[in-house]
Amino acid sequence: MNDIKNLVSQLTLEEKAGLTSGKDCWLTKAVERLGIGSARTSDGPHGLRADDYSRDDHATMPAVCFPTAVTTAASFDREMLFEMGKELGRECQSYGVDVLLGPGVNIKRSPLCGRNFEYFSEDPYLAGELGAAFVNGVQSEGVGTSLKHFFANSQETRRFTSSSEIDERTIREIYLPAFETVVKKAQPWTIMASYNKINGTYSTANRLYLDEILRKEWGFEGLVVSDWGATHDRAAAVEAGTDLTMPAEDTDRQIVEAVKNGTLSEEALDLCCERVLELVFKSEKNRRRELPFDPEAAHALSRKCAADSLVLLKNEGGMLPLSKGDKIAFIGAFSKTPRVQGGGSSHIRETKLTSALEAAAEAGVSVTYAAAYNPETGESDENLIAEAVKAARSADKAVLFIGLPDSMEYEGGDRPHMKLPEAHDRLVREICKANPETAVVLHNGSPVEMPWIDQPKAVLEAYLGGQAVGGAVVDILFGDVNPSGRLAESFPRRLEDNPSYLYYIGEGDRVTYNEGIFVGYRYYETKKQEVLFPFGYGLSYTEFEYSDLSVKKAGDGAEVSVKVKNVGVREGKEVVQLYVAPEKVKMIRPKRELKEFAKIDLRPGEEKTVRFSLPARAFSYWDIEAHDWKVESGKFGVEICKNAHEAIMSGEVEF
Ligand code: BGC
Repeated sequence: MNDIKNLVSQLTLEEKAGLTSGKDCWLTKAVERLGIGSARTSDGPHGLRADDYSRDDHATMPAVCFPTAVTTAASFDREMLFEMGKELGRECQSYGVDVLLGPGVNIKRSPLCGRNFEYFSEDPYLAGELGAAFVNGVQSEGVGTSLKHFFANSQETRRFTSSSEIDERTIREIYLPAFETVVKKAQPWTIMASYNKINGTYSTANRLYLDEILRKEWGFEGLVVSDWGATHDRAAAVEAGTDLTMPAEDTDRQIVEAVKNGTLSEEALDLCCERVLELVFKSEKNRRRELPFDPEAAHALSRKCAADSLVLLKNEGGMLPLSKGDKIAFIGAFSKTPRVQGGGSSHIRETKLTSALEAAAEAGVSVTYAAAYNPETGESDENLIAEAVKAARSADKAVLFIGLPDSMEYEGGDRPHMKLPEAHDRLVREICKANPETAVVLHNGSPVEMPWIDQPKAVLEAYLGGQAVGGAVVDILFGDVNPSGRLAESFPRRLEDNPSYLYYIGEGDRVTYNEGIFVGYRYYETKKQEVLFPFGYGLSYTEFEYSDLSVKKAGDGAEVSVKVKNVGVREGKEVVQLYVAPEKVKMIRPKRELKEFAKIDLRPGEEKTVRFSLPARAFSYWDIEAHDWKVESGKFGVEICKNAHEAIMSGEVEF
């Protein structure tokens, strides 16, 4: 640290100003005369989108595309996220990248946000826990992360100018905790300040959140970087604690002038420079470019992560798993060219792509195929539909692959509605009529309406599952992997049921978060609003039985244990979900909130005891008078649930 302070004292004012903005799109500026090198950043989050600096055109290097966050969140599996992060860390090392720009832990306020696929959940506890596991994984390989987008970046419409207008309690209970958890449990090397304003002040210039809360209250030790182009006033950003503005900008002069005319203190600038230098030195110290990275092994891990994340939404009469001897038709262009990721800055140039058709062939299953629609537009025509119907009729069982095409879901825009392309809804009806033994496989990065849900026998949510998703889909369809994904978001029946429906996108640049703390299932459960599939929902090919719940007060929190047994005939993983349900309290509170979870693997007949330790925070609300967390006197249910709607057993504690 003294060395760093000493170095900063040797910098000219111009050099200091220069250090607080990028050299180009990805590098920090070097100061050669003092031997200061550059740190290299790259997108992120579910793969590496790294420029090839050895080529004049800096073309993107092929890299392994892992399942997107919406998919991996459904795993509810901290260990899996750690492993995936670790693999990405190794890839970064071998590609020369010091900081991976991710993960995104923004809360999904509406199903319409064009970037929902890059974010984990509507629930801050889940998003924080999984985000922390991912960051710890990447950083365990000596590569930094950038936790983004800090914060309340809930829409893409007018993302550069809109102001998220949110009350203090909602900020503390919903929009901040995922960031807080990742900071406290994983210390990401960097955090990325979002494009939007928060209550009128740009995130990059928001001293309250960057300095008072992030650094002083939570103890963040790393560097704050602006989202790319999110700094509007360089001096204000430095003053607030945005250490680095990215990418390269022609505005360093603003800083020099502000220091000279006394509107910016040189101490604030020095502090930013120190943090930039810390990042540079940390990057240099941790470089291990010789670390072996095997794209084939990473592809296999990507398949495993996807398989452990896909969510079985419906399985009537046990239609799935299919038997490899059945006469099966795969219908839909997504079975040949799956949609595996979303559009925008996170878009990876995959090293390879496994489709469900290829994976089925590799597994020795012969399937017939009909395209049914154009995968780019999602549109169909009478000929394509007739062919698809014919294929469905001549098979014992049909698997129909549908979803959202790229053009309907991407960074920079929000969806105007929650519907699938019309042709896809029609296809479900036609194919189910032609063959009642139909399963639907969905590829989408955010919930869609399913007006046809009664018709197919089975529905598998395959999300945007990364470059090996076709393999994962086949693993689940044929029962080589028992599905264990659980939705990390609610699927409302229709968009109008979503609590942000009346206010989403806002008026002009003002976006008021009027639904407050009632985001996602917190609203649906409290309001008794029926949904298509609740948060935490997902089926398995086996069955689990719960018993012996014990809930005991311990200190200012509680100790909980419960037994879970696999009472079916297949091995499988279960997600044990614990919710706290305030019973007799004075504050307005959601009916129940997720406060713990565990993913366990059980062989048939096997039983395990799961133990949870709940801190006081699990029972608290944010008191706007004390500006602090507070546990009310009263009774609290501690529930073990199948999902946010279905409690299995419950105990009680009183404070
Ligand atoms: C995105 C970030 C991304 C950055 C660099 C921005 O437009 O919002 O998520 O990391 O670009 O590509």
